[in-house]
Amino acid sequence: MEEIAFGCDHAGHSLKAAIVEILQARGFKVLDFGTSSADLVDYPDFASRVCESILNQQAVQGVLICGTGIGMSIAANRYKGIRAALCTSVQQTELARRHNDANVLCLGARITDNETAIACLTTFLSTPFEGERHAVRIAKLDV
Ligand code: RB5
Repeated sequence: MEEIAFGCDHAGHSLKAAIVEILQARGFKVLDFGTSSADLVDYPDFASRVCESILNQQAVQGVLICGTGIGMSIAANRYKGIRAALCTSVQQTELARRHNDANVLCLGARITDNETAIACLTTFLSTPFEGERHAVRIAKLDV
């Protein structure tokens, strides 16, 4: 079973806890890098743990949650080989997988309700990359 890495800051910890529980109940293996409380932390510290776990092949995909999802997506996309997509809808998430082969889903806990976030995550984990012309474009990202 392939592992899914999770990270969040204080703004995202409740949403992370909710979706980690759902994924574990569905039989997914979760690598939870925290944080796990409302105590203030800095989102780049958690983005780095999730991105490094993907780059060193501990995890296949990751989920990063902060208040808006913006800080996490900025932080994650600084890592070569990470394609982080900040999604607020199922349609965006589906296209982030099909066209962009996104390997990190970023969510904004203060923007996106739990139900939508879970629907996005379900789509993220189940949608394949289409390859072909999109693979050519993705190859141009990591130069
Ligand atoms: C924390 O207050 C907030 O700035 C952070 O969660 C995130 O939204 C940053 O992009």
